[in-house]
Amino acid sequence: MDFLVHEEAQGYIRALLPKRESIFYEMEKEAKDKIIPIVEPEIGHLLYWLAFTKGSQKVLEIGTAIGYSTLWLAKAVLPRGGRITTMEINEPRADAARKFFKKAGVEQQIELVFGDARELLYTQNGTYDFIFLDAAKGKYIEFLDKCIELLEPGGLLVAEDVFMRGMVISGEIDKRRNKTAVSRLKAYLKLVMEHNLLETVVLPVGDGVAISTKKYKELKK
Ligand SMILES: C[S@@+](CC[C@H](N)C(=O)[O-])C[C@H]1O[C@@H](n2cnc3c(N)ncnc32)[C@H](O)[C@@H]1O
Repeated sequence: MDFLVHEEAQGYIRALLPKRESIFYEMEKEAKDKIIPIVEPEIGHLLYWLAFTKGSQKVLEIGTAIGYSTLWLAKAVLPRGGRITTMEINEPRADAARKFFKKAGVEQQIELVFGDARELLYTQNGTYDFIFLDAAKGKYIEFLDKCIELLEPGGLLVAEDVFMRGMVISGEIDKRRNKTAVSRLKAYLKLVMEHNLLETVVLPVGDGVAISTKKYKELKK
């Protein structure tokens, strides 16, 4: 599929999405006005669908921004009595997310932890059945071992923006500082595809999504 067809398919899929609650449109506008990167609505819908289909109950999100993807996950997880923990390093964004969670009436079921996920991940006691990785792209590989440890067998690890605006595929890097992030993303994709604890698919939706499932330990005969 060439890039143009991909763009057209994306627009077509977006137009097919059912009407979402007004808070999603409000957040999309705020993100656009303030130039805050959030997932596209079709990726939000994919996250919702994955969590809904898997019956996910314990969700960890790394990279909240203003809480847009969190609310897509919440649509699937909270009505089943599940919980979401989400981590954000940027204080104004964390404050904005809190405001939206309150507005959506879900602030009691979502734990927003302000700080650096590289440290916060080591303070987590429990396990998760769904981890959404959407922080700095160059750091995914750093997060991987801990995410696998925190993930229950059968659980999903979803990493967003793995093509980094197409740079991972084309090799055309727009800024010198993105060179390291691109090579680390490539290493992340190779690792999750070959990892003996994971089964992974990479999908060309949005800016690329890698979906990994943690394997169950093989049963001894
Ligand atoms: C792409 S945005 C997240 C978008 C959000 N998931 C959504 O779709 O609505 C990435 C966020 O990760 C945050 N971030 C980057 N590095 C982080 C870290 N080490 N710990 C916690 N948050 C981090 C950034 O501040 C930014 O708000």
